[in-house]
Amino acid sequence: MVEFKGTKSSWGLVAKLFHWSLALLLFWQVATGISLHNMEFSPLKMGFIISHKFFGTLVFSLVVLRLMWKYIFNSHPKYENIPLFHKLVSNLVHFLLYGLVIFIPIQGTYMTWLEGGDVHLLGLIKIPSLIEENFILYPQALAIHYYSALLLTALFSLHIVAALYHRFFINDKYGVWKRMAFGRNKV
Ligand code: HEM
Ligand code: HEM
Repeated sequence: MVEFKGTKSSWGLVAKLFHWSLALLLFWQVATGISLHNMEFSPLKMGFIISHKFFGTLVFSLVVLRLMWKYIFNSHPKYENIPLFHKLVSNLVHFLLYGLVIFIPIQGTYMTWLEGGDVHLLGLIKIPSLIEENFILYPQALAIHYYSALLLTALFSLHIVAALYHRFFINDKYGVWKRMAFGRNKV
């Protein structure tokens, strides 16, 4: 039977769909962001920026829905027998990942306004600008956007290495992989 909500040993289907769709979107978002960093101004770059803003606001909307699902509706799997240190580090990394995927899109929006640009939520609803254009602050804001994205990349690389370690090196002895994986979850 498909479990939509979390159980003792699974995050549940809805949380898994949020997790894996966001993982894919974030790979795309970071890859296009880093490409933007290295591109000269051109019509192609403008096209990339439009898609980058669309997917950035999509990431933000999905994270908000995911957090609402996680804290209001879902039940969490139990951490059984897992060493306290693993538990603390993974909770800290998850917390920082959530923090960054909320912060970066908001900061990207602020940066776009500094430059006098528009931001449309999911390409549809225009978010009215709350600040004046400021071309002096813009380069600093761009640098913050870039370094936050690098920090996000470092943290999710750490997260992936930890997940692969659980799955392949210790044969998922704490069931950490299984509870976020799709399918019958035989490890
Ligand atoms: C998690 C989501 C996001 C990530 C990981 C991300 C990452 C990046 C990175 C790495 C760059 C290159 C920075 C540089 O050129 O030095 C970039 C550029 C940019 N980002 Fe984002 N971004 C995200 C969301 C957003 C959002 C939501 C907006 C605005 C709505 C936005 C607006 C921009 C703009 C306008 C640029 C181009 C700046 C330029 O080169 O002129 N970003 N982003
Ligand atoms: C290929 C990439 C990824 C793999 C293999 C992976 C693997 C996993 C696994 C196995 C878990 C369960 C851990 C546990 O229950 O303690 C998990 C949870 C989690 N992952 Fe990932 N992950 C990936 C990408 C990402 C990305 C890009 C993010 C960034 C937001 C992320 C954020 C989280 C969070 C916040 C949790 C805690 C559960 C929750 O709040 O929904 N993951 N991940």
